[in-house]
Amino acid sequence: MIKLFVYAMREYDEKPCFDRWCRELGVELGYTTEDPTPDTLSLAQGYDAVCVLLNELDADSIRRLHQMGVKYLSTRTVGFDHIDLEAAQALHMPVVHAFYPPQGVANYTILLMLLCCRKMKLILERSLTRNFTLQGCMGSELSNLTVGILGTGQIGSTVIRHLAGFGCKILAYDPYPRDDLNELAKYVTLEELYQQADIISLHIPASKENRHIIGREALHQMREGVILVNTGRGDLIDSEALIEALDAGKVGGAGLDVLEDEAGLFFHDISAGPPLTREMALLRAHPSVIITPHTAFYTDEAVEHMVMNAVKGVVACAQGGENPFLVS
Ligand code: COI
Repeated sequence: MIKLFVYAMREYDEKPCFDRWCRELGVELGYTTEDPTPDTLSLAQGYDAVCVLLNELDADSIRRLHQMGVKYLSTRTVGFDHIDLEAAQALHMPVVHAFYPPQGVANYTILLMLLCCRKMKLILERSLTRNFTLQGCMGSELSNLTVGILGTGQIGSTVIRHLAGFGCKILAYDPYPRDDLNELAKYVTLEELYQQADIISLHIPASKENRHIIGREALHQMREGVILVNTGRGDLIDSEALIEALDAGKVGGAGLDVLEDEAGLFFHDISAGPPLTREMALLRAHPSVIITPHTAFYTDEAVEHMVMNAVKGVVACAQGGENPFLVS
């Protein structure tokens, strides 16, 4: 029987799913609620596979796991930028990831767009102190705006399909345009998207090339008062450059579900410390920035798929043959 060790297990929602899928697929389950750290890696001793969430598995950790006999690495996320793939490949350790339906993140992306263009942070903060005045709270209507979607993969294309019902003009940029979106969005160059969009939403993978794609140069090309939405990965945006652009009024609002320095902070109760990073504190305090702690994915449907596919991926590794969960 294949043995799977799960890190960062959420006992309140993931554990029952893992129990069910491991029973169904004949997998022996071990777990900890802790992240994989130099201190907790030894817990995976004697297991065939480990499963992480958004936890970094660097070359050293992967080497240690390999020495302990771990053969397969599984992440219950779509993204896999937290795993050193080269190190895993060098040790012939297959890495599998878990896809889940894109509509949850797509819905949340549109939620952030609406919250930003209707100045919801200001409205909610004021109403908490029974300040029900209107001055400063006038929003703009999504239906009248031009939305630029950067990246038209699974999530970006779903955002486009859902947005189409709002009646807004939709621009898209992707190095690999899709014919099926031609009716709904107009593919343009990156420069045209920056120059024409009132809202820009990021749906591209985190990669070396895409790191800080939204930096000073890109921000400079955008419209005055542009709204940025990021439900992808934090390091797509240079936080320092964004703070400058917000202060200068160049960026009129931002809905950020991901931040470049979120690791170790998001998904943890840090009300008693450690302190926020400077960038996170400044962005959080900004009246037109809405920050949520990487929760766009978090629905019943997505969690079920993440757990199921994380287990199925490991089983497919052990069985050999075709493995749709393999990170290529
Ligand atoms: C992913 O699946 O890549 C995500 O970003 C969700 C993760 C935070 C659980």
